[in-house]
Amino acid sequence: MGELHHVDASTLREWLTAVRAGETTAALLLAIAHGDGVDPETLASWYGRSAAWVEDTLDALDAPRYVATIARLEGVDVEAVAAESNLTVESVEAWFAGLADRPVSEAATVIHGYAAGGVEPLITGEASTVFHLDYETMTERGWSLEDPDLFEKAAAADLGLPEYGRFLVEPGESILDAAERGGRSWPYACRGGACSNCAVVVVDGDVAMPGQTVLSATQIREANARLSCVGVPVTEEVEIVTGVGGLEAFADLRLPAPTGDAGATSAEE
Ligand code: FES
Repeated sequence: MGELHHVDASTLREWLTAVRAGETTAALLLAIAHGDGVDPETLASWYGRSAAWVEDTLDALDAPRYVATIARLEGVDVEAVAAESNLTVESVEAWFAGLADRPVSEAATVIHGYAAGGVEPLITGEASTVFHLDYETMTERGWSLEDPDLFEKAAAADLGLPEYGRFLVEPGESILDAAERGGRSWPYACRGGACSNCAVVVVDGDVAMPGQTVLSATQIREANARLSCVGVPVTEEVEIVTGVGGLEAFADLRLPAPTGDAGATSAEE
């Protein structure tokens, strides 16, 4: 003990100037003091806390996800953000942890927005690159969603649009809107998270779905299904398999596609 392994004291000092909650200030001060060699028992007596609280706080702050800890200490309800975004708590914590790559003042502004409850669900404020592969093409090639190198194989194959490609999603833009802006024509019906016509499977990265009402927890957590019309990337890159909304697993959620436009379902089975 007596040193910081994952985060340096100068970074924690920088955060000290940006935090608001007294609890966060106390936690940062004790981590800095610990980095200077003060043992946990002494810190516990200084701050009038239990040794267990000191140990837990040190562990949480001296960890790769320390910004997620600061977010919680500052009052962000991570569970509420996760529920609003249709994301796991772990995904939301990982996203807050990723704020460590931004300047402290900028990261603190984001955290305080969520702490005030004004920025739910998760909106990254960053553009993301989406790589997409068509489901039928995947199965025709003998590939599967379980292939760990699925998108490496797709990149190496002689594939192009509409079966395979990539596009940029602007901050707050849905995947479906961005795909259409880039000239793609994907299945959809309601465009409001209330059917499954636009469903995709996320192979890598993560996608929030504010406002979706129809996918089950199993479809979201275990099948990694997302609705592209309300789906907003929350990671820098996302790999998705498209055209899964027509599969039998979504049959009871499907709506008739709008007639005479790009909403015709193309992967019905
Ligand atoms: S088009 Fe209905 S949920 Fe996306």
